[in-house]
Amino acid sequence: RQLFLFRDKSLPPEVFHLVPYFGSAASYGNDPIRFFTDCQKKYGNVFTFVMLGRKMTVALGAKGNNFILGGKTANVSAEDAYTHLTTPVFGKDVVYDIPNERFMEQKKFVKFGLSTDNFRAYVGLIEKEVSDFIDRDPAFRIYQINDINEWGAFDVLKVLQEMTILTASRTLQGQEVREGLDKGFSDTFTDLDGGFTPLHFTFPNLPLASYRKRDAAQKKMSNFYVDIVKKRREGKSMTETDMITALMECKYRDGTPLRDHEIAHIMIALLMAGQHTSSTTGTWTLLHIADRQDVQEALYQEQVKHFGQPDGSFRLPTYEELKQLPVLDCVIRETLRIHPPIHSIMRYVRADTPVPPTLAAPSKDGTYVVPAGHYFLASPAVAQIDPEVWRDGAKWDPGRWSDADGEAQKAFKQYYDESGEKIDYGFGAVSKGTDSPYQPFGAGRHRCIGEQFAYLQLGVLILTVVRKIELRLPGSVPGPNYHTMITMPKDPRTMLYRRRRFD
Ligand code: HEM
Repeated sequence: RQLFLFRDKSLPPEVFHLVPYFGSAASYGNDPIRFFTDCQKKYGNVFTFVMLGRKMTVALGAKGNNFILGGKTANVSAEDAYTHLTTPVFGKDVVYDIPNERFMEQKKFVKFGLSTDNFRAYVGLIEKEVSDFIDRDPAFRIYQINDINEWGAFDVLKVLQEMTILTASRTLQGQEVREGLDKGFSDTFTDLDGGFTPLHFTFPNLPLASYRKRDAAQKKMSNFYVDIVKKRREGKSMTETDMITALMECKYRDGTPLRDHEIAHIMIALLMAGQHTSSTTGTWTLLHIADRQDVQEALYQEQVKHFGQPDGSFRLPTYEELKQLPVLDCVIRETLRIHPPIHSIMRYVRADTPVPPTLAAPSKDGTYVVPAGHYFLASPAVAQIDPEVWRDGAKWDPGRWSDADGEAQKAFKQYYDESGEKIDYGFGAVSKGTDSPYQPFGAGRHRCIGEQFAYLQLGVLILTVVRKIELRLPGSVPGPNYHTMITMPKDPRTMLYRRRRFD
């Protein structure tokens, strides 16, 4: 009570907890979205909770996202929040291991490799990988049986993880990585990935097997990529359209080229950034279209209409044509709305930061100040189901994006009109603003640069699956599991399938 009376009024309200140090770790860890929305009802859009000795200050809603993700580097830092998790996995001298200005240069280099010309070449490569996988993998054993009415079953997350790494390595990562997948690269990736968990985030170094495996895998993976760069420099191999080639040509502003190990570690970072985000998004998408036969049929008919051939086969879309498929576009967008793979975005608070009174304030004339040493948490996932913006926000309803007078369209129209930016409802177009209620790819200086690639990879993957097989769900769509870094569906994730035709 005394403590309560003398509590500094400029601090945001603190969530009640019984156990010191541990704080609200369990409620947050088990279901961050429910925890955030429950606290929002009690404390408003800005509040602080204790988690394993850290003070986490949450700012919710589109304005909360704007406050944190649009924050100045003098006040907020991603590298101070993440480096203990990412540097042992990605390696030295990249991403959060270096000052932010240097990382921003590296992000620009990656953008060179994500060019439209490269994307045009990727459409056919992705389609072939997915199609071949369905034709050969034991998960789809029914390909051998010439009975079109027979239903098989597969674990959708497992299959999507394989399809994602195959397609990313065939395109961005390059042919050496694709070939390496058959020779142990996947095992090294699994060990490295085992070091990218909430446990490793909380305790960066423990004398446990998973930590030793992480460190050994990092060295192995780094050497693997450095070898590729060296061989390419010697002219022994070269793939024109992949990221390694693009990075080898880049120079920092001071004129120095990227060093071999920096290229290697950027490639590892891209692999980690893209693998689980894309594979879980693909998994959630297939789960929902298996559950909603009407949407699945609409997706299939969209393919027939645009690419169907007289003999029942399909031709390959061009990259430009991919952007003209509204059903596919709505389905991916809507999946990312209710299942954004990253539920919380974290920053370290470097300097005392006043909260704008329009977001939250202790009184009419007061202002909250978030002290240096706290961590900020933004959760676009909460804004993306905010009932004030989205009707039936928790419901997966891709149609909401196609209705010209729908609430989502209105929200974006209004946002863009106010900010004066061009309205683009085309494939893959989402609001780029830091105060948008739709931010599955984040916002501000740390915004995702893989969005276009992810839309391309997911789009071609989904259309190839829909062309070849029908999907059904034996039960209902599983709920989310928040115990991993990326929000995945809980078990069981078994799906039924039937071949549409045999070639
Ligand atoms: C950053 C989501 C795919 C590379 C981010 C952020 C989000 C995000 C929310 C912001 C993180 C923060 O502010 O702390 C997604 C989703 C994806 C996806 C939903 C797929 C569906 C990819 C892919 C790549 C990639 C395929 C690489 C090819 C990056 C990079 C950053 C980033 C380099 C910048 C990190 C920073 O500046 O701190 N992504 N991502 N992402 N993502 Fe993605």
